Amino acid sequence: MSAITIKVILLITLPVSLALQTRPEDAKLNFTELGAKYGHPVEEYDVVTEDGYILTLFHIPGEIEGPVLLMHGIADSADTFIIRGNLSLVITLADKGYDVWAGNTRGNKYGRRHKYLNPDTDKEFWDFSFHEAGFYDLTATVDYVLESTGEESIRTIGHSQGTTAHFVLLSTRPEYNEKIKGFIALAPVAFLNNVIPPVSTVTKVGPVINAFLKSLGIEELLRDHSAARELIELICSQGIISYALCYILAVSPFAGFDPKRIESDFWEVITGHYPAATSRKSLVHFDQVALGRRFANYEYGPSENFRRYKLLRAPSYNLGEITTKVTLVVGQNDALSRVKDVDILRSLLPGDPKYHLMEPALWNHLDFVWANDMDKYLYPYIFSSLEEFEFE
Ligand SMILES: *[C@@H]1O[C@H](CO)[C@@H](O)[C@H](O)[C@H]1NC(C)=O
Ligand SMILES: *[C@@H]1O[C@H](CO)[C@@H](O)[C@H](O)[C@H]1NC(C)=O
Repeated sequence: MSAITIKVILLITLPVSLALQTRPEDAKLNFTELGAKYGHPVEEYDVVTEDGYILTLFHIPGEIEGPVLLMHGIADSADTFIIRGNLSLVITLADKGYDVWAGNTRGNKYGRRHKYLNPDTDKEFWDFSFHEAGFYDLTATVDYVLESTGEESIRTIGHSQGTTAHFVLLSTRPEYNEKIKGFIALAPVAFLNNVIPPVSTVTKVGPVINAFLKSLGIEELLRDHSAARELIELICSQGIISYALCYILAVSPFAGFDPKRIESDFWEVITGHYPAATSRKSLVHFDQVALGRRFANYEYGPSENFRRYKLLRAPSYNLGEITTKVTLVVGQNDALSRVKDVDILRSLLPGDPKYHLMEPALWNHLDFVWANDMDKYLYPYIFSSLEEFEFE
């Protein structure tokens, strides 16, 4: 669909939708505003990566429990950990007196800045995947928190691609195993060997989709306030029918079917924040992981591989380097982070990582950040793990 067609549709449907419905306030508030609304003033910092990206880092100061850094998943942002308001992980941690930091990876609405590159005109800006999210963004963010707090090491929590970024960082820059003393991986993603349809169907046609996007010169996907993004938000935020269409029919097959934990009112809040933008290359790299059945660096083809890696084939990440204490938290019904794939990861991580299978049988990929009963099933486990890391 062309941008013009989308704009025409918007022009016709927007007034109707505005008349039909008022959006929930939290759909429109940013991280800082949500923090204030739920009782915690937020500080904003700019983190600059080695390769020039400028990322917003959010901080809610707390003095009782020590720093914890949160890192979000693909096409997401720090918002994900706070949009549940009083029930969210950020507010719950802050209420308990943790010093909470929430980072962002390059390309999303809080990471769309660079010292020299212009995201609107420079294609190089979008030349990144989960590799750079770990190797550069997480590195700079961890260092920023260490420097600000004067701590020698911190505890971290990642969701989905936020866990992938950790596995990249800890296996490629071993010194960060000293800086991160404990890491809780929610819905860990390193292997995609056991995905089933429709996820596996999409990974199979991935190369075709990629060729198509490339031929159109599309590097940035789902930019905030773009016509396509506005259209998704419009279609997906019209009450119960939108909920059925967008969450149950479109998203659930890729996350796991669990209609109860993310209810339609809250779905409207989600559509204001998710999806946040990402790059074409991010999807391609995950597709390579799935099709190649290995957790490896980006595959550029033999000559470019040789230039970058001195190898004809992109090297696997060496998970054997990881000495940080890792806790893997897994949903039985997670369509992206499959139990069998986490088993592979677990067998390759040294030091017998802690492992927790979520008790509810329907727990899916998104329930780790958005479920309406995270306080009952997830947080007790998170808090006990954080405490153990502190005293290990
Ligand atoms: C969030 O919104 C506030 C108030 O509108 C604004 O001052 C602030 O810059 C925003 N923060 C970010 C990171 O966009
Ligand atoms: C969040 O919880 C606090 C403390 O329980 C309460 O005072 C406040 O009204 C709640 N905020 C919202 C917006 O629900």
